[in-house]
Amino acid sequence: MTKLLILGGTAWLGGEVARQAIERGDEVTCLARGGAGAVPDGARLIKADRDRPDAYAPVAETDWDVVLDVSRQPGHVRGAVRALGPRAGHWVFVSTASVYADNSRPGMDESDELLPAHPGDTAAAAEYGEGKVACEQACLESLGDRVTLARSGLIGGRGDFSDRFGYWPARFAADGPVLVPDALDQPTQTIDVRDIAAWLLLAGDERLAGPYNVFGEQISLGDVLAAAREVAGYRGEVVPVAEDRLRAEGVAPWSGPKSLPLWLPGPEYAGFMSRNADRAVAAGLVRRPLAETLEQALLEERERGLDRERKAGLSPVEERDLLAL
Ligand SMILES: NC(=O)c1ccc[n+]([C@@H]2O[C@H](COP(=O)([O-])OP(=O)(O)OC[C@H]3O[C@@H](n4cnc5c(N)ncnc54)[C@H](OP(=O)(O)O)[C@@H]3O)[C@@H](O)[C@H]2O)c1
Repeated sequence: MTKLLILGGTAWLGGEVARQAIERGDEVTCLARGGAGAVPDGARLIKADRDRPDAYAPVAETDWDVVLDVSRQPGHVRGAVRALGPRAGHWVFVSTASVYADNSRPGMDESDELLPAHPGDTAAAAEYGEGKVACEQACLESLGDRVTLARSGLIGGRGDFSDRFGYWPARFAADGPVLVPDALDQPTQTIDVRDIAAWLLLAGDERLAGPYNVFGEQISLGDVLAAAREVAGYRGEVVPVAEDRLRAEGVAPWSGPKSLPLWLPGPEYAGFMSRNADRAVAAGLVRRPLAETLEQALLEERERGLDRERKAGLSPVEERDLLAL
């Protein structure tokens, strides 16, 4: 039984780690403000605000086997490793693919160059990558080889509130015709939230040291769309539209309003979803078939309403207008 402290645990990935840890018999404590949601049954929530200097006092007198942190804020991570690092057996920091400086070259591993570290305590949303680099550095400086830096790629599945990956199964579950980008060879990598959570627990068990790309298997956008169609049982018309045309009509790549999620045109992103995850696979990362992730994403989408307003994707009106052109 592992004595696990999750800094987070009230949101998506941290909550899934907590759920799996409880299921296997670990003793799980989560530290968060509690505003993002509840912790899974069986986990203990300690309410604390990491913006406050005394945030870690309630958990600082315990010897934790593993501490897992999902923060994006360098100040939070510096405070946590200072307060809890000396008594932690191992530390798992959830980082991101956005730490890398160059996303144009396919197949790059963990030795690829990083962005400059954010110098302050608080990183704005646009400074996400630089902030995570600073978080990684704080971990390495304090913990040395007692930390796993898990650089996650796009996560998908049940509980995803970003509206990105779920757009495609949701779109195919509604009426056609369906507009898709004609970039069907473009690589994608999506990891199921259950698979990355399981690997994060394994990283703590095995005391894995240093950076790991924790990515889904590389699958072409065309195959993702075909699998999403299959999962949704869609038999209607699909209309591929040229990338230049989409750009000219103001369709955004990747995410956000009036976007086509997962679509990443241009040479500058050719390597963003084709990173080398061999190191994590060799260390036990198991990735389930994409169809299972799509099924879970579709369940989530149906529950939240296929016709709701979305944070990412095309609205029905935007899609109709584009198809009319
Ligand atoms: N989604 C993706 O595709 C993707 C891709 C790459 C990497 N990632 C990484 O995956 C992780 C996602 O983690 P997640 O889904 O569990 O969490 P999250 O959505 O990033 O939420 C942050 C967590 O930290 C807590 N928190 C935030 N501010 C706090 C404060 N001032 N004091 C105390 N607690 C605070 C939140 O809880 P309260 O609000 O309740 O305090 C919440 O549990 C992140 O590290 C992200 O960078 C995600």
